[in-house]
Amino acid sequence: MTPATQTVLAALADHTRTQGLENMRALFDADTGRFERHSHRLGDLLFDFSKHMVDARSVELFADVVDAAGLGEAREAMFSGAPINTTEDRAVLHTALRNQSDSPVMVDGVDVMPGIRDVLASMRAFANAIRNGEISGAGGKFTDVVNIGIGGSDLGPAMAVRALAPYAKGPRCHFISNVDGADLTDKLAGLNAGTTLFLVASKTFTTQETMTNARSARAWLVERLGEDAVARHFAALSTNLEATAAFPIPEDRTFGFWDWVGGRYSIWSAIGLSLMLAIGLDGFDKMLAGAHAMDEHFRTSDWPTNMPVQMAMLGVLYRNVQGYSTHAVLPYEDRLARFPAYLQQLDMESNGKGTTKAGGRVANDTGPIVWGEPGTNGQHAFYQLIHQGTDVIPCDFLLARNSQDGLPEHHSRLAANCFAQSEALLKGKSEAQAFDELLAKGMGSAHAKALAPHKMFPGNRPSTTIVYDRLDPSTLGKLIALYEHKVFVMGVVWDINSFDQWGVELGKELAGSLLPMVQGDEAVGGRDASTEGLVRDFLAG
Ligand code: F6P
Repeated sequence: MTPATQTVLAALADHTRTQGLENMRALFDADTGRFERHSHRLGDLLFDFSKHMVDARSVELFADVVDAAGLGEAREAMFSGAPINTTEDRAVLHTALRNQSDSPVMVDGVDVMPGIRDVLASMRAFANAIRNGEISGAGGKFTDVVNIGIGGSDLGPAMAVRALAPYAKGPRCHFISNVDGADLTDKLAGLNAGTTLFLVASKTFTTQETMTNARSARAWLVERLGEDAVARHFAALSTNLEATAAFPIPEDRTFGFWDWVGGRYSIWSAIGLSLMLAIGLDGFDKMLAGAHAMDEHFRTSDWPTNMPVQMAMLGVLYRNVQGYSTHAVLPYEDRLARFPAYLQQLDMESNGKGTTKAGGRVANDTGPIVWGEPGTNGQHAFYQLIHQGTDVIPCDFLLARNSQDGLPEHHSRLAANCFAQSEALLKGKSEAQAFDELLAKGMGSAHAKALAPHKMFPGNRPSTTIVYDRLDPSTLGKLIALYEHKVFVMGVVWDINSFDQWGVELGKELAGSLLPMVQGDEAVGGRDASTEGLVRDFLAG
């Protein structure tokens, strides 16, 4: 964070404390219009920001903070293709992949839009031909698609295929990511090789896990159908066209993208092919259009009504003013079960940084730990800590107004639970209240006095609730883009590069040099005593 940003943030901290904004219960008591004043609508999306430690002045200070951080210029630089990923000298243009306008998007003087449209057109033609059986496997129409990828080449499509299950009319999609052979073995068990299509998804086409899994999948196929079947049963999604050709995967089965698409932002590119196969061309288009609508909102709205900016500044308030270190995402939408994992990569790989853009150490905390599980399951597992633990954990609740499953009784229970959780986090329950309740139930005073401290809830714990009509492709597109831009804004405020990921390199390098020892091809030595001890123990097993 620059000194200028720090100065305004200090004013926000001061305002939060002097105005008693941590006591949200009192804010609600003092203002019956608080929900209307601190919630926003964007189409069918409702954002309830009222259960936060803010008032109208905080929202003004939020604007001052992002202005001090230069958000306006940074946002324009991203959308217009400037090389804002400075450590890799790359533009950051996932927004161009879903650009629905006719405007050109220039990178190094070249409009990238025609290339994007060309790849989309070939993905569409391929997906269509797979779905209608014009392109088939050795055993007939493809019934199963196996995406082999990891990180951004897995999490996005895997999350979205699950989220949009009601829209899936194509082949069944499976996702193999882990180099643990169990992943491949279990996913391939029961598949018919003759009707299975493999998509090798890797931006770099060098990732150890993906290439190992791709080779094993190839061997599995060859064992069943022979070498000749490979060309028919494999396709590649990558920026590294030399490596895809060397695999070999034929050119007409290779769908490219560009180095200005970050892995964790690549669901909108060829990496989304499995999703397109599952939900169809129209569904994929709707998701792109939903994301584009959020891009336009982010690009054109004033800060106080700009949802990604408001969510980001709440995150900054909690991380840097209040010192809360984690953030929970709690979808009351079982089909969003993988959304928290998706957001973990998006947020933690983007903002888990300790170096400023200029190369100094950051003087403030950066990315929080992001985690979560769908409600109501989480309620019966970790919500205990959210309600009564010593850490305050800001939460995002997500809920659809309408179920897609024709089970209204389930949906009202789901909604009641969702609303009850944010209410409980806000209201809490004092020890005196707990004591009175126990007395009212007939408990003796001594027993009630002993039990009441265990049954008190501190309350005043913040949460956002996002409500939407239904989890359809357009809504999912909007939600993903919302979080992408939130992460971007936080990175701008912290003055870090949200688009590189050098922190994953050291482990990869060390794994590469340990492999010969672990395989028994090289003597164990030259490492610390613990690492050597572990390798020796493994080899003895
Ligand atoms: O190691 C981290 C990472 O580079 C992620 O950023 C990326 O999404 C993932 O690995 C997979 O990379 P690739 O698509 O090149 O196989």
